[in-house]
Amino acid sequence: MSGPVPVVRTLQPLREMVARWHREGSAVGLVPTMGALHRGHLELVREARKRAARVVVSIFVNPTQFAPNEDFDRYPRDEAGDLAKLASVGCDAVWSPERSVMYPDGFATRIVPAGAAEGLESDFRPHFFGGVATVCCKLFTQVGPDVAVFGEKDFQQLAVVKQMVRDLNLPLEIVGAETVREADGLAMSSRNAYLSPGERAIAPAMHRVITEVADKVRGGADIAATERAASAALTEAGFGKIDYVAVRDAISLQVPAPTSRASLRVLAAAWLGKTRLIDNVPV
Ligand code: PAF
Repeated sequence: MSGPVPVVRTLQPLREMVARWHREGSAVGLVPTMGALHRGHLELVREARKRAARVVVSIFVNPTQFAPNEDFDRYPRDEAGDLAKLASVGCDAVWSPERSVMYPDGFATRIVPAGAAEGLESDFRPHFFGGVATVCCKLFTQVGPDVAVFGEKDFQQLAVVKQMVRDLNLPLEIVGAETVREADGLAMSSRNAYLSPGERAIAPAMHRVITEVADKVRGGADIAATERAASAALTEAGFGKIDYVAVRDAISLQVPAPTSRASLRVLAAAWLGKTRLIDNVPV
């Protein structure tokens, strides 16, 4: 597909467009994003396209998932660049509401996720999943998609959104798409743009270290000792503060029982200078 992608900024034309597609018998896919799109996002659009004849990409830098000391103001924004990229991958429309459309004066309701939202990211960003769940719930009711695609890069976010959809009986399917990586293993992320050349050279160590954790745990190593050794290895590689390296149940994200045979996931978050990187791999 080529040609400019239409950008919709208010609710009524969005709903009319999606209702028309549904009347025509087309399934509708949604890829929620905060813009600054990279190859990983474009893969999410391709994944949505396999499941739906029409694909909407939302671009909204969601203020409610940033704490006051975080990077909301400097989060990269490039609408023209995003639209050019989306034109090449088969996106039918971009939903890009103003803040006043998403959160009009008097807005006062918030989703409070628990379960998969507990621990890990929430220990360091307590506001985060409430903001994500609230905006995703709104995006789902605004767009009305049959399916929404999220990257596994934000693995806990994916689990939280799946739990919310299950718990609230929201009428759509949530699909997780594999993380897209640079050639050296670094998971693609809009925040990689913050890394200095020196930090960028250190960053792939996170994927290397968590892959080693997955191999060791698969081979029967003690989980707590392996997590501790991995934190030390990240420090040794040049990372600053290590928020966590954790092996968790892949569905509930709870700490697995020592003898658990459930599928496991290794998740990590750590700082390089002022940039916080997260990544995860299956065991
Ligand atoms: O992963 C993101 O880009 C955001 O957290 C999301 C899902 C678009 C909600 O703002």
